[in-house]
Amino acid sequence: MNALVTLLLASTIILNTNNSTMVLNAETGREAQILYYGAALGPNETAALEDAGFRASSLYPAFGLRGAAEPAVSMIQADGNLTLDLRVSEVSAQKWQNGEVLSITSCDPVCPVTVKNFFKTYEAENIIETWVEITNTGKKESTLTRYYSGHLPVRVGDVWLSTLYGTWANEGRVCEEPLARGLKLIKNMDGTRNSHTSHAEAMISLDGKPCENSGRVIGLALEWGGNYELRFQTNDSDFHHVFAGICPDNAPYTLAKGETFKSPALAYSYSGEGLSGVSRNFHRWGRKYRLAHGDIERKVLLNSWEGVYFDINEPGMDQMMGDIASMGGELFVMDDGWFGVKYPRKNDSSSLGDWEVDRTKLPGGIGALVKMADGHGIRFGIWIEPEMTNSVSELYEKHPEWVLKAPGRENVYGRGGTQLVLDMANPQVQDYVFGIVDGLLTQNPRIDYIKWDANMNISAYGSQYTKDQARLDVAYWDGFARTCDRIRAKYPDVTIQACASGGGRANWGVLPWFDEFWTSDNTDALQRIYMQWGTSYFFPAIAMASHISATPNHTVFRTTSLKFRCDVACSGRLGMEIQPKNMTDAEKDFCRKVIADYKGVRPVVQFGDIYRLTSPYDNKGFASMMYVTSEKDKAVFYWWKIANFYDQHFPRAVMAGLDPEKTYRVHELNRIDITPLPCEGKCFSGRFLMENGLDLPSSNNVDYNMKSDWSSRVLYLTVE
Ligand code: GLA
Repeated sequence: MNALVTLLLASTIILNTNNSTMVLNAETGREAQILYYGAALGPNETAALEDAGFRASSLYPAFGLRGAAEPAVSMIQADGNLTLDLRVSEVSAQKWQNGEVLSITSCDPVCPVTVKNFFKTYEAENIIETWVEITNTGKKESTLTRYYSGHLPVRVGDVWLSTLYGTWANEGRVCEEPLARGLKLIKNMDGTRNSHTSHAEAMISLDGKPCENSGRVIGLALEWGGNYELRFQTNDSDFHHVFAGICPDNAPYTLAKGETFKSPALAYSYSGEGLSGVSRNFHRWGRKYRLAHGDIERKVLLNSWEGVYFDINEPGMDQMMGDIASMGGELFVMDDGWFGVKYPRKNDSSSLGDWEVDRTKLPGGIGALVKMADGHGIRFGIWIEPEMTNSVSELYEKHPEWVLKAPGRENVYGRGGTQLVLDMANPQVQDYVFGIVDGLLTQNPRIDYIKWDANMNISAYGSQYTKDQARLDVAYWDGFARTCDRIRAKYPDVTIQACASGGGRANWGVLPWFDEFWTSDNTDALQRIYMQWGTSYFFPAIAMASHISATPNHTVFRTTSLKFRCDVACSGRLGMEIQPKNMTDAEKDFCRKVIADYKGVRPVVQFGDIYRLTSPYDNKGFASMMYVTSEKDKAVFYWWKIANFYDQHFPRAVMAGLDPEKTYRVHELNRIDITPLPCEGKCFSGRFLMENGLDLPSSNNVDYNMKSDWSSRVLYLTVE
C-alpha cells in the first residue's frame, strides 16, 4: 500500500463505495466532523448537502468541552484533567485494491494525546470500516475510560432499530423497534461468548418500519469477540447518536507513556434495498474478506453430539461414519466425550484440558478413527474446547495458575460445577492452546475439521498473569487472536467451527479464523427458522451450521416432520445431528435424496445473494426466503409453514432478486408429494415470478397417514 495523497489542509473528504457515500470534514486545527452517510452522491452533489441544510456532527466526540453530548472517547490524564479537545492535525489517504484507507489524526493542544480515526472502504461490497488508535504522547500514564470504535449520527425521522437478542438455545432473535428518545444500550459482558444474549450488530432503517427489500438501511457490525456496547443515544439534538466499541465498564484502559490503544473495527454498510440489501453487502464482504475459506464449499457432515452425547466408542463412531457416508455425507465430526486418561470425560464435570484420547473408549486412538473415515470415503473431524479446563483434570492439577481467578479469591465454577476458563492473556496458556491443535494435526494430518467450543463465560474477573486486571477482556482476546494466528499460519486449510454453547460466537471479530459457527444448540426446525432469519441479517448461509436432528427435539421436545426439518436445515450449511441407527430405511432414503439435492444447489445457497421475503416475525403463518446467484441464473426458494389453522389461506409465493427478463425453469427439491406441483418443470419469466409468484398448496400431497401440519417447499430455479 503506497501513500498516494497526504492532504495537509484537507477539509471535505468524500469516501465512496459503489452504492454509498460518506462525507467528512477534516479541517486542520478544528474538530473532525461527519456530514453524511447514505446513498452514493453524484460528483457535484456534496455541495448540495449544505444547500439542503444538512448539518455536520462531531466525527469522534470527546468528553468534557461539549456540554451534555455523549462522547465516543473519554480519558483521565495524569494531572487529573478529564477533558479532551481533539483537533485535526493530519489527513492521509492510501489506496488498496478494493478501495481506500483514510486516516484523520487529531491532537489535543493541552493534553498529550493523539487520536487517529481510520476509514477503510470496500468499494464493491459497500462496506466502510472505521477504527481508532489512541496514543498517550505524554511522559506519564493516562487512562481511557471510554474508547469506542466509532460514532455515527443518524438524522431523526421515522428511524427504526433492528437488533438481535436471545439466550442459550434461542439465539439470533430479531427485535424491531422505533428508535425513541433516550438511551438504548446493548451490552455484552460474557467475556468469551458474545452473541448469545445480544449481538454486536444492528440495522437502522431510515424509512419507518423495516422492510426486507425496500427502504434505506444502515447496518453496523462490531468486529470484536469480547465485551461490547452498542449505544443509541437520542438527546435534544436532531440526531440519534450511534456508538459502538469495547465495553469500557470495569475496564479503564491505562496507557503507559507512548502506548497506543487500537480499537476493533466497526463495519458500516448502507443499502437502499432494505434489510436484505444490507445483508447481501455483509455476506459478500464477509465471504471475501472476513470468513476463513469464504469461497470454498462446505462439506455435508454428521456431528455425533445429539446422536450419542458423551457415549463415544469405536464401534459407535464407525457405525455413524458408515451411515453418514451411505447417505452421501462427506464428513463425520466426533463431538465431546473422547478424551481424558486419569479423569475420563463421562459427563461435563471433568477432563477439559486433558486432550489425550480415552483408550478405554477408543482403543485405536484418533488414528484408527481417521482410517475408518477414509475407509468410508469421508473425512474426519473432532471436537475440542481448548480455552477451558475443569478443576477435575490433570491440567488443573499441574497448572492451577493458568485459570482466570480474582486475586485472593476462590474459583468460580461454570458448567458441570467444575469448569474454569483458562487465562488466554498468559503466553504459556497461548502456547498450550496452540499445542492442542498442533498436536492433533501433527499426529493426524488427515483431520479435516475442528469444532472449537467455549462453554463458559468469564465468571471470575481476574488474571493470575496480567498485572493490570482492568485489561482482562482485551488481553484475553489479544491472546486468543495471537493463538489463532499461529494456528492458521501453520494450518491454513483445516476447517474450524466456532461453537460457544451453541451460537455464542457468531461475530465478525471471531470469524476470520473460523469457517463457520454453530448457530444454536437448539435444532428444532421451527425455532431455527426464527433464529436463522435473524442470524442471516449479518452472516451468510455458508457460515451458518444447520443440522437435521431427531424428534422430539432435544431442546424443545417438539415433533416436526422429517421433510420440514430437512427443508429448514438445507437453507444453511447442511449437516446432520442425529443417531442414524434410529432412523428407518425410508427416513435414510429421504435424507440421501435431500443431501444429493443439496449438493446440486450448494453453490447457490453458500455463495448466493440472500433475499428474505416473508418474515416469520410478521406472524403470517408462513415464512419464505431465497438465494440467487450473482449472475441471476440460478436460485433456491424456501417456503415454510409455521402455523397451522383450518381454512388458512396464504398469499402466492412472490419472489425477489431474479432477472425480470430471464426465463426460469422450476423444479421442486426434497419432494415428498405423490403428484408434482403444477409449476414442476415449467418455465416462468423472472418478472412473472416477482410480480405474481407461484400458487403453492398449503399442505403436502401425501398419503393420509403421512400428513402433517409441517409443510414446506424448496424450489430450484434455473435459467433456460
Ligand atoms: C456445547 C455445544 C454442543 C456440544 C456440547 C458438548 O453445548 O454447543 O454442540 O458440542 O457443548 O459438550
